[in-house]
Amino acid sequence: MAYQWWQGAVVYRIYVRSFQDSNGDGVGDLMGLISRLGYVENLGVDAIWLTPVFDSPNFDFGFDVSDFLTVQKELGTLSDFDLLIEEAHKRGIKVIVDLLLNHTSIEHPWFIQSRSSTEGEYAGYYIWSDEIPNNWIAAFGGKAWTLDSVRGQYYMHSFFRQQPDLNWRNPKVVDELFAVTRFWLDRGIDGVRLDVINSIAKDETLRSNPKVLGTRSRVYDRQRHIFDRNRPESYTRVRQVRRLVDEYDDRVLIGEIMAEFPGEPELAASYLGQKGDQLNLSLDSSLANARFSAPSWKRVAKRWYEATGRLRDPGWVLNSHELSRFSTRVKGDQDKMKLAALFLMTQRGTIFIYYGEELGLPDSVVWPKEMKDPLGKRFWPFMKSRDVSRGPMVWSTGPGNWFTSGESWLPFTKSANFYSVENQALEKDSMLTFYRTIIALRSDDLVLQMGHCHFMECKNSNVLIYTRSSEDGRRMVILNMSKRVQTCSLADVLEREEAVALRLFSTHIDGRAKETGEDDVELVPWQGSVYDLVDQRRKSRSS
Ligand code: GLC
Ligand code: CA
Repeated sequence: MAYQWWQGAVVYRIYVRSFQDSNGDGVGDLMGLISRLGYVENLGVDAIWLTPVFDSPNFDFGFDVSDFLTVQKELGTLSDFDLLIEEAHKRGIKVIVDLLLNHTSIEHPWFIQSRSSTEGEYAGYYIWSDEIPNNWIAAFGGKAWTLDSVRGQYYMHSFFRQQPDLNWRNPKVVDELFAVTRFWLDRGIDGVRLDVINSIAKDETLRSNPKVLGTRSRVYDRQRHIFDRNRPESYTRVRQVRRLVDEYDDRVLIGEIMAEFPGEPELAASYLGQKGDQLNLSLDSSLANARFSAPSWKRVAKRWYEATGRLRDPGWVLNSHELSRFSTRVKGDQDKMKLAALFLMTQRGTIFIYYGEELGLPDSVVWPKEMKDPLGKRFWPFMKSRDVSRGPMVWSTGPGNWFTSGESWLPFTKSANFYSVENQALEKDSMLTFYRTIIALRSDDLVLQMGHCHFMECKNSNVLIYTRSSEDGRRMVILNMSKRVQTCSLADVLEREEAVALRLFSTHIDGRAKETGEDDVELVPWQGSVYDLVDQRRKSRSS
């Protein structure tokens, strides 16, 4: 079967401001990123996905765009961007950009004109009302409506008041946003990731959301977001964006689907379209928010696979620019991180890793005076600032860790030297070496990329066993997600598959792990292994 390039791919997400600084101002930039493409290539990933690069007053660090058609000065220029595409493509790396079509900055010329008058071309570019029309809440706190002193009306914003929502019911707005999308596709990008795309359409009559019964700590979560999110029109619009993207060859359309905590694979999957005519991939945070245990990870995975069916693909995420890093969540436990990574690299669909994840990088400690994230500032000390997972990449040991020759805009993680690429590249059992190994394992194996996944019932609830199968072959993955030695029987799987298992890879290669007999396997704490399943009859015939 012919697959699209993103099916089964590994995508490396880069927070551009924190990857590589090229001019000593302490902020990562495009030229810096270009100089690190060799590293990205060696990691073995298929694509990079960049945080927003458009012009922005950086209230929300690029997620508040003031000009969609230029690159913000701190990050570089349009010609740097073109060079990035060219250099990435030379190395066989695809480039995906973040597009923010739900809102702009208050400094965008559209908004400046829109707020200036209730009449004229731009009056209807945003969502305006004489009164506060409903109970909508902004995801980042407070009401979703702010009175604008110039126009004397309220405008709607799903996030901060500095980020007014665009009016997707205005055909001119839609035309503008499609033109923006084309502008970037024409420059040769390989795909876009649409920010909070299920928020774009709001209820036509702006009805209030129903209240949720029970107590929720966040005011935002005390209502069901049925009138400010997931309107039928959002699906229609996504379908139109997809048609546009499909006019170009080989481009991928990815969407971020905002959902209630901890996430909702079914909702994310609904944006793939029943005919596969909406997003190519959607992102959901259920796995990242799930407890690290065999039953909960299995539950999330099964939900994803059930929701997507056999022909549409899940998108897997463990780390992002919004969450505390997985390394910190598992208190720096390298065994757990390796096992989690092996889980990811043996799932069907597209795997998204976040820069530094391959180093096991923990959160940066960010004191209030160093905080940049507006959400962190607003909710400190009740919430961890999102800055913690946006700390600079650690390339080498020493001052600036080769990220910058100046003062980094955000603090490095503690013990940064320990995590440096320089150190880890030399060590055989480092996280980086491990990631390179298993990314290669996946890239060389169509079955691991795209084979159908079947979870086996396992009497031992600490162990996950699943098979992957396609016309290219069969694999079996066994993960001991516990701190104790576990034994489990493979009799059922091997009988069902009529196969024998040959080990291809294990997290504990020097193998205190021994196979106990034909059917039983013993796993040391946090051990994970991948097997080739070979037809029993064929094997006995050949021996
Ligand atoms: C999305 C982004 C987040 C941003 C928000 C508002 O949720 O992931 O970083 O703050 O949109 O643009
Ligand atoms: Ca810089």
